[in-house]
Amino acid sequence: MIHQLPGDFLLGCATAAHQVEGNLDNDWTRMEREHPERIKDGSVSGIACDHHARYRDDLRELADMHHSAHRFSIEWSRVEPRDGVFDADELRHYADVVRTCRSLRMEPVVTLHHFTLPVWLADRGGVCSSDAPHRFARFAAVCAEAIGADVRWWITINEPTVLAVFGYLYGEWPPLEPSMGGFLDALAGMARMHAAGYTALHRVAHAHGWDAAVSIAHHERPLRPLNPRSPIHRAVAVLPNAIFNRWFLRACTTGRLLPPVGHSQVVPGLRGSLDYLGLNFYCEERVRFSPRRPRELFAENVVPSGVPLSAFGWTIDPDALRRAIENLWEDFRLPILITENGVADDHDELRAQFIVDHLSAVGAAIAAGADVRGYLHWTAMDNFEWAEGYSKRFGLLAVDRGTQERTPKPSAAVFAQICASRRVGVPQAPVEAAV
Ligand code: FCB
Repeated sequence: MIHQLPGDFLLGCATAAHQVEGNLDNDWTRMEREHPERIKDGSVSGIACDHHARYRDDLRELADMHHSAHRFSIEWSRVEPRDGVFDADELRHYADVVRTCRSLRMEPVVTLHHFTLPVWLADRGGVCSSDAPHRFARFAAVCAEAIGADVRWWITINEPTVLAVFGYLYGEWPPLEPSMGGFLDALAGMARMHAAGYTALHRVAHAHGWDAAVSIAHHERPLRPLNPRSPIHRAVAVLPNAIFNRWFLRACTTGRLLPPVGHSQVVPGLRGSLDYLGLNFYCEERVRFSPRRPRELFAENVVPSGVPLSAFGWTIDPDALRRAIENLWEDFRLPILITENGVADDHDELRAQFIVDHLSAVGAAIAAGADVRGYLHWTAMDNFEWAEGYSKRFGLLAVDRGTQERTPKPSAAVFAQICASRRVGVPQAPVEAAV
């Protein structure tokens, strides 16, 4: 089946500041310095891909590959290095990133918080502190004033649930504080921050007569029973699905801190605070009951034999993306922008087919009636993959860590071909001239 993607369908890549920019002073750089054992390959983010200096060349390279959109994040610790003190040069920098995207005919998609916090905010309790919503709203408003004339697509917070899990439930990321109470507080705190950020972005946009569409980037990782006929396998998937895959979205649509995080208290500005649904999707999990997995709410992830895996050990199943889109469309009826989807692949052996198959799945979901506005591949270039360090390669471009030289991988040409033709579902011949 061949799918022709709509003419205004956004196609491009997603990135995040800490993973590509380098030289930052935030809660992650501090953890990398003080707890080097937390990064599995022993690396530090360092200058990463030096993208803060090289963004013009990088963006041109992506535009030359026919990308029509580009997602990046603004590093809060650069823009507001001290509480209430904003750095005009950094604001000009991000304004130029946006202008460069526009001049290259790539729609900017801007994230305000992608896992990292300025240390001054981390030290006062981070996302759990009572004034984090106010401070986030102030930062959002400053960013909106600086770049809002040229930005329509905004993401307040990237994957709030993932940050709550890894930072607070597992305690493997900053603030390295594992506790169930902290996990629930972090979810509540980020729901409040999102509401405050959403309100601030719209207030500034409205005052200037600008258009703004605001969402979170929601990580959807559906849990399915390993054996669908087993009542216990089915039962054990229910609670983690409700908490990890639906709690935050339902909070944003109902405006309430629903159980088990809260007692359904109303959060001002939270109700209806998704103008679209930003979707980060990597894989599903198949689960069965295990008494040894209390942290995972007793749902043990089991990889069925024969299922292809990425270098991260995540299952590769394009139809899972179609199911996720159709379920989210069914549940929320919000336009969906795929804000991340990609594959860890050491030697670029999986990525080209992965892209073709996953975009075909998107095409199938659209054909079935889902309103999908775009697909942003994770990611432009091999980068600092959080606790995995530089060991996981998600990029369309390889990056020489010594010289910073970028080399397009064969899969980049396959994606370029789709971006140019907007046709998916047939084997793609690489466009040589594109890269
Ligand atoms: C997502 C993150 C992104 C990247 C990919 C592989 O959860 O948002 O920064 O690390 O996973």
